[in-house]
Amino acid sequence: MTDPITQDSPVYVVDDLIGRDIDAYLDLHQHKTMLRFITCGSVDDGKSTLIGRLLYDSKMIFEDQLAALEADSKKVGTQGQAIDFALLVDGLAAEREQGITIDVAYRFFNTEKRKFIVADCPGHEQYTRNMVTGASTADLAVILVDARKGVLVQTRRHSYLCHLIGIRNVVLAVNKMDLVDYDQATFDAIVRDYAEFARSIGIETFTAMPISGFAGDNITTHSAKTPWYAGPTLVDHLEQVEVNAAHDGDKPFRMPVQWVNRPNLDFRGFSGLIATGSVRPGDTIRVLPSGKTSTVTRIVTLDGDLDQAVAGQSVTLCLADEIDCSRGDVIALADAPPQVADQFEATLVWLNDEALIPGRAYWLKLGTQTVSATVQHPKYVVNINTMEHMAAKTLDLNAIGVVEVTADKPVVFEPYVDNRTLGGFILIDKITNATVAAGMLHFSLRRAQNVHWQALDITREARAAMKGQTARVLWFTGLSGSGKSTIANLVEKKLHALGKHTFLLDGDNVRHGLNKDLGFTEADRIENIRRVGEVARLMTDAGLIVITAFISPFRAERDMVRAMMEPGEFVEVFIDTPLEEAERRDVKGLYKKARQGALKNFTGIDSPYEAPDSAEIHVDTTREQAEDAAERIVNHILAQWTPVI
Ligand code: ADX
Repeated sequence: MTDPITQDSPVYVVDDLIGRDIDAYLDLHQHKTMLRFITCGSVDDGKSTLIGRLLYDSKMIFEDQLAALEADSKKVGTQGQAIDFALLVDGLAAEREQGITIDVAYRFFNTEKRKFIVADCPGHEQYTRNMVTGASTADLAVILVDARKGVLVQTRRHSYLCHLIGIRNVVLAVNKMDLVDYDQATFDAIVRDYAEFARSIGIETFTAMPISGFAGDNITTHSAKTPWYAGPTLVDHLEQVEVNAAHDGDKPFRMPVQWVNRPNLDFRGFSGLIATGSVRPGDTIRVLPSGKTSTVTRIVTLDGDLDQAVAGQSVTLCLADEIDCSRGDVIALADAPPQVADQFEATLVWLNDEALIPGRAYWLKLGTQTVSATVQHPKYVVNINTMEHMAAKTLDLNAIGVVEVTADKPVVFEPYVDNRTLGGFILIDKITNATVAAGMLHFSLRRAQNVHWQALDITREARAAMKGQTARVLWFTGLSGSGKSTIANLVEKKLHALGKHTFLLDGDNVRHGLNKDLGFTEADRIENIRRVGEVARLMTDAGLIVITAFISPFRAERDMVRAMMEPGEFVEVFIDTPLEEAERRDVKGLYKKARQGALKNFTGIDSPYEAPDSAEIHVDTTREQAEDAAERIVNHILAQWTPVI
């Protein structure tokens, strides 16, 4: 291999241990702690230059190059790889311009003392979600400020986001000091300004330093140009700062269960990554949400059993008792367990182009737990440029708001400020599978703790059996004027004639009473269906055959109601009438009004209808008479029943 390095070229010579003994080098680097940090600042603040400077100056080597070197260790000469600072910065800047760092670019580097992963994300408001992604795993934020410009709107926004995401180590890097002649007064004024803002949003401490990414001042060595600055250099600080995980071990023990290990009947272990605290054999633990307790008998790892395991370790725990425990449960110290609740207040950062739909069910993933959850109207959204709280009906892309979340099952959690693992969650769209929001739990709502489900002695089965039937929900869906009510009415008459106990819930009727406060916006329709679903569920508990006739235009809410019922209880009946046909019939004259613009949000005209993919019963009203369809529906449910004695 030819030697690319000459003594006077502006290159960095990689730690020469790599050339002498690659194994020793790798070993050394493997046992270093890791700091993840994020750099914030707009393009002009000199972010690329700073990152370039860090990579270039701090005795670093890219991890991917390291891998290449490892694979090719024989070829490594004594001088290692050469990197030109100017070229490096150009490369980083070019990447940004080409939009490669529109997502989040993670850059890796090492110093003698630590490994680093720096998340480099674009700073404009439209990239809030990228910043949130980058910040979510970071221990520290470097907030860059141009010494000539001072604290700007972006500085405030980035600081707020980093604080919100739980970053407690903040570095205020006052950059481009070379362009203000290393003037202390300028630096001090910016620090004062920032301190005032930081206090207002709850940032308790930060470390300020005067630097120049371009000239290299106070990056790795103290600059002679800032004799008035006695603090650490940026790299010193990054090498020494305590990472979040350092505190995790002191907290009470919590391990979300990832899977249950049962290779044979003699062994049952619960595997997971310890989020906080430590555990020893003999410790009394509690499994949440059930609350059952047991004792740890063994801590099993691939390298043998342990006497103690701490936060950050992946282990398998064996327990003394055969208690129920499965994926999503949390094993915790028995006398200091986390909370369990199904209603919370939380902050959401909305990450999706499509706005939040209040009332819609999303998947909520918190650690290893996944539940179905709905979000109500935001209490307020935060204007992240002014920090003002404003009223809002929904959350649009990049919006940050405080909301109430209701889950369909109890969730084991801790406030996000205490525990990022058990307090941070994401929301996922059930149909597209897109991650739509990142959330931070504040606290559970007291009403969730004080309202308990009352177990009743007379069961739903007993009530249905007395009626000689099995409860069902026949859920009719279709356009307005498709024939839902007509066919539903015929079905009810037939069942009644057979001596069955039924109840028909019809859109137009329910909207005169229970739902008279609701209109036809997306949110109102969702709430309409949610309430009807709850009523239908109560009626199935009473043992009735419930027939519902609502447009119910959205798949997500029909699926939500299906999920509320017992398996097999929900029978979806798609009354399939093409729009042209429903409009031609126009029984109530509403299509005409809608076409004239006198009726807004009319289904099929300016509001969508999502037809079912796999309804249990499909009725094509252009081919089948209402009477025949009703007969077929009745036969379908009669055929499903096991005879009741
Ligand atoms: S749903 O979409 O929320 O399920 P629902 O079935 O309760 O609707 O009510 C639909 C009935 O309300 C229609 O049959 C029609 O008579 C009446 N209606 C009034 N305005 C609208 C509208 N904008 N869109 C659809 N239906 C409307």
